Amino acid sequence: MEKTEQLYEGKAKKVFATDDLDYCIVSYKDDATAFNGKKKGTITGKGVVNNKMSNYMFKMLEKHGILTHYVKELSDRDTLVKKVQIVPLEVIIRNVAAGSFSKRLGVPEGSVLKCPVLEFCYKSDALDDPMVNDSHVLAMGWATEAEVNTIKEMALRINELMKKFFLSVNIDLIDFKLEFGRYKGQIILADEISPDTCRFWDVKTHEKLDKDRFRRNLGGVEEAYAEVMKRIGL
Ligand code: C5P
Repeated sequence: MEKTEQLYEGKAKKVFATDDLDYCIVSYKDDATAFNGKKKGTITGKGVVNNKMSNYMFKMLEKHGILTHYVKELSDRDTLVKKVQIVPLEVIIRNVAAGSFSKRLGVPEGSVLKCPVLEFCYKSDALDDPMVNDSHVLAMGWATEAEVNTIKEMALRINELMKKFFLSVNIDLIDFKLEFGRYKGQIILADEISPDTCRFWDVKTHEKLDKDRFRRNLGGVEEAYAEVMKRIGL
């Protein structure tokens, strides 16, 4: 399937229409941003890593009954996906305190949480993606109650599957962000699953193997992305 017009350009991806209205093509870029675009840079080869890792994760999740937007990898950077109407929420799941959770609640990074935490943030660059709760989502009409319940159930199930998978390659899944969309009346997993959207720590050393290396100027960014790929066997 061929790309037709560009529908959207985000911070890390471009989305193109195709000649089939049910599908579009996602094209992953090497551009990296953090702090809602305030820090900008490039992570060489990131687009290829994020494309391949996302597709690998979507296929793994599909095997376990999770519906996703994945259709077919077209090239190193391009993937054919189902064209969804995106639910304007970032769904964050946390297993271990880190990042904004640690900052907001004064909890040291690395504290293991008694159970997974699920947060919703409203997707808005202009507002810096503010955290919202279920009643905001219903009151604003961003999703129905049934959709909110489906999203929560799917996100928690995805967490269990991903935690187990990453542990098998000696990586602790600290936290991650998901996005969901509507496709033919169903809620399905969309967007990406990559070191840009997850926190990955080495099980033993707690070395960071994700975008925090870029956000916090830790160096070794490309090497960390390559290490995760190597452990997955990609
Ligand atoms: O910054 P914070 O601690 O809230 O991030 C939680 C998780 O969500 C991290 O894994 C981060 O990579 C991801 N995230 C994301 N996109 C955002 C905000 C957070 O992928 N806009």
